[in-house]
Amino acid sequence: MSRLIVVSNRLPFALDLTSEDLWTVTPAAGGLVSAIEPVLRERGGTWIGWPGVAGEIPRTPLEKATRGAGYAVVPVSLSKAERDEFYYGYSNEVIWPLFHDLQNFCHFEPAFWETYKTVNERYADAIARHCQLGDFIWVHDYHLMYVAQALRARRVHAALTFFLHIPFPPFDIFAKLPQQQRLLRALLEFDLLGFQTRRDLRNFLQCVRRVLSDAEVLPSAGIQRIHYGGREIRASRFPIGIDFESFEKGAVSEEVAQRTRKLRAAFPGCQLMLGADRLDYSKGIPERLRAFRDALERHRELRGRVVLIQNVVPSRVEIPRYHEFKDRIDRLVGDINGRFSTDTWLPVHYRFRSLNRDDLLAHYRACEIALVTPLKDGMNLVAKEYCACSVDKNDGVLILSQFAGAAEQLKPGAVLVNPYDVEQVADTILKVFRMSAAERSARMKRMRRVVRDENVFWWVDSFLKAGSQLTIRSARIASRRQAKITR
Ligand code: UDP
Ligand code: G6P
Repeated sequence: MSRLIVVSNRLPFALDLTSEDLWTVTPAAGGLVSAIEPVLRERGGTWIGWPGVAGEIPRTPLEKATRGAGYAVVPVSLSKAERDEFYYGYSNEVIWPLFHDLQNFCHFEPAFWETYKTVNERYADAIARHCQLGDFIWVHDYHLMYVAQALRARRVHAALTFFLHIPFPPFDIFAKLPQQQRLLRALLEFDLLGFQTRRDLRNFLQCVRRVLSDAEVLPSAGIQRIHYGGREIRASRFPIGIDFESFEKGAVSEEVAQRTRKLRAAFPGCQLMLGADRLDYSKGIPERLRAFRDALERHRELRGRVVLIQNVVPSRVEIPRYHEFKDRIDRLVGDINGRFSTDTWLPVHYRFRSLNRDDLLAHYRACEIALVTPLKDGMNLVAKEYCACSVDKNDGVLILSQFAGAAEQLKPGAVLVNPYDVEQVADTILKVFRMSAAERSARMKRMRRVVRDENVFWWVDSFLKAGSQLTIRSARIASRRQAKITR
C-alpha cells in the first residue's frame, strides 16, 4: 500500500490569534475537511495544507493541533498579501463564483492569477520536499489547480492525481475566465482528474475540446482518456461520500438521543425543518427563506405547525460579498419572524455559529424535514449526513436542490426542487408536511442505502484504484531512470 499524501488548501483545523499571544485552534468548516479527515485518521499518511493564519505559523499551537491525529501534518504558510490575493482573491472571488455559475460575482483582477501561481508553486515545493518514490500524491480542490504544472517544472515525474470538490461549469461560463487556456493546460499536467458528478465530467471534457485544439478526448464508456502533449490523462466521476457508520452510531448515542429529545420538546406540536449551511451565496439561503415566507403566506395550515431551524456557519466573512449576504439573511429572518410569530410560536430559529458534532447530529435526528437547496453545489454532504442520522423509523424527508451534486445519487428518495423557483419550494414544503409516514420511510430507506454503500471509504478506494496503476508505472520508470544514471 502506497503512502497517501493529501494536499489541500485547508488543514482540518484553523489557528487564530484571539488576543496578545493567545492562540485558539478550531476545527475547519466545510465538506472537504469532513470527508478527508476520517480517511487519513484510518489509513495514516501526510496532509499538506494551510492552517488558516496569515504570516508565520506558531510552532506550539500547531504541535498541539496535530498531536495524536494519526497522520503527519506539513504546514504551508501564506503572507497576508498572499492570503488576500490567492485565497480570497483568485480562489474565492474568481474560481468559486464562476464554477458555481455566478459569473456576475467574479472579480477578475489580473494580479490575483500571478499570486495564485506563486502560492501553488509553494505547495509544489512542499510536495517535492516531502514525497518519496511510490507515494500516492493526491491534490484537492480549486485552490491548487496549478500545482502539477509547478511540479513538472521542478522535474517531478511522479504520478499526480487531483480531485475537484466543487462543480465544473459548462463551456459558456468557463469561457469567461481570462486564464481559461492556462488553467486547462495546468490541469492536464495531472495524470488522473476526479470530478463529483457526470455533469462536471461532461462539462470539463467539453471545455477541453473547445479550448485546447491540440488535445484529443478519446471516446470511452468508463474512465475517460485525453491525449495531450504526448501524454495520456485520465478523468472520471468519483462522487464523494461520508463516514456513514460514524454518523449513524453518533446519532443513536445516548448523548445525542438526549439532545434530540430536548430539541423536540422545545417545539411541541410542530414539525421541525432544518437548514444547515456555511455562510455562502451558493447555498441558496435567502431563496429558501423567501420560499418559507411564501409557504406561510399561502398555506395557512403551516402556521404554528412548522418551525425552520436555520444554522449558518461563519465563512469567508472578510470578503465583502459574504458580509452583505449575511445582512440579507438577517433581514429576511427578521421580516418573517416579525410578520408571522405569535406569543407561542417563532417560525425561524436562526443561529450564526458552528454547531459542535453532537449538536449537529441531534439537529439532523430531531428534524422531520431537511431543506438542502443550494443554487449549485459540488456534492453537499449535509444532505448525506442528514440521511445517515435519520435513525428513528427512517422518517426524515429531504427536500433537495436539483443543482446539488448529491441529487445524482439521491434522486430516488429525495424530493427534488429548483431552488430559484420560490413558489415551487413553498408548495413542496406543504407537500412534505402532509406526506404519509409510509412514503417518508420508503424514500429515506432508498437514500440511506446509497449513502451507506457509496460512503467515503468507497470513494477513496475507487479513486486510489484508478490512480494506483499510474503510481506503480511512474515508480518503475523513475527507478529505471535512476539505475541508468548510477550505471
Ligand atoms: N457542518 C458543521 N457544523 C455545522 C454545519 C455543518 O460541522 O453547524 C459541517 C457538516 O457536517 C458538513 C460540512 O460542514 O460536513 C458542510 O459540507 P457541505 O459539503 O455540505 O458544504 P461545504 O461547506 O463544503 O460547501
Ligand atoms: C468547500 C470547498 C473546500 C473549502 C470549504 C470551506 O467545501 O470545496 O475546499 O475548504 O468549502 O471553505 P474555506 O474557504 O473556509 O476553506
